Amino acid sequence: MQPIISVSGLSKTYAGGFQALKGVDLDIRKGEIFALLGPNGAGKTTLIGIICGLVNATSGTVIADGHDIVRDYRAARTKIGLVPQELTTDSFETVLATVKFSRGLFGKSPNPAYIEKILRDLSLWDKKDNKLRTLSGGMKRRVMIAKALSHEPRILFLDEPSAGVDVELRRDMWLMVRALRDSGVTIILTTHYIEEAEEMADRIGVINKGELVLVEDKDVLMRKLGKKQLTLQLREPLAAIPAALAGEPLELSADGAELVYSFDAQSEETGIADLLKRLGEQGVDFKDLRTEESSLEEIFVNLVKAK
Ligand SMILES: Nc1ncnc2c1ncn2[C@@H]1O[C@H](COP(=O)(O)OP(=O)(O)OP(=O)(O)O)[C@@H](O)[C@H]1O
Ligand SMILES: [Mg+2]
Repeated sequence: MQPIISVSGLSKTYAGGFQALKGVDLDIRKGEIFALLGPNGAGKTTLIGIICGLVNATSGTVIADGHDIVRDYRAARTKIGLVPQELTTDSFETVLATVKFSRGLFGKSPNPAYIEKILRDLSLWDKKDNKLRTLSGGMKRRVMIAKALSHEPRILFLDEPSAGVDVELRRDMWLMVRALRDSGVTIILTTHYIEEAEEMADRIGVINKGELVLVEDKDVLMRKLGKKQLTLQLREPLAAIPAALAGEPLELSADGAELVYSFDAQSEETGIADLLKRLGEQGVDFKDLRTEESSLEEIFVNLVKAK
């Protein structure tokens, strides 16, 4: 299937000489939720800014829904909705007027029923006559989402959508994002919340220091890297792993008090029963055991740390 967004060889060097993006290649699939994870300053907002036409790339190309974002800027831009990271809603306008105006900017004819629906979906309908300055931060962020959706875009960028939004509203927002995806909108979000990427995304990209270091289906990623560990607290410390168990994925802690066995959480046979039997045969006794699963968080921290 044709990707809905195709980014090739994208680089950005800012005026001061700082290289924020280094040859990024990325295809976004139609109808997916793609989460872009990365630490502060990784280049997430820069990448989104280029795709949305707010930042000029130094080199490389972006095609959005068949339109080159530079040569065919207006056509590309109408397909895209952007919820920016920075809130710019310090105005005397009302919620309703702001969202209607946004739609008008894209040359779309008025559609009061549609505007009402998005305001209701975002729990903003009862605030429709409020001036933006009187809203809380979380409400302002939701107004930004309403504005971004006002012209019925096919692609929605959410740059840190959860920043400043409380837990309950975040849940509502996730539900809404899923409903949008189900209605055919492609969604690209950036987040610092691993939990959000893990829960929401179909695919995950990790960006670090301007380079895309990983792009993977979330499920594949979780399976590939979702290793489990069984830790046995030994009754008597061991000086070394018994020779009869050499070759097993075992590690002994520095003090010899814990034996750690790594296994694939997804496989049918973990080998644990066999391991325990063989340990028994070697006279290795343990007082307690626990299992741990490496999370996306660890995977992420390791990827970013490795650089
Ligand atoms: N207008 C600018 N001029 C110079 N440098 C910039 C400019 N905008 C961003 N940068 C730099 O480019 C790098 C990437 O910034 P960017 O905002 O894309 O990161 P980010 O991944 O969105 O970070 P965060 O998670 O903090 O939002 C940073 O080092 C930043 O200081
Ligand atoms: Mg950012």
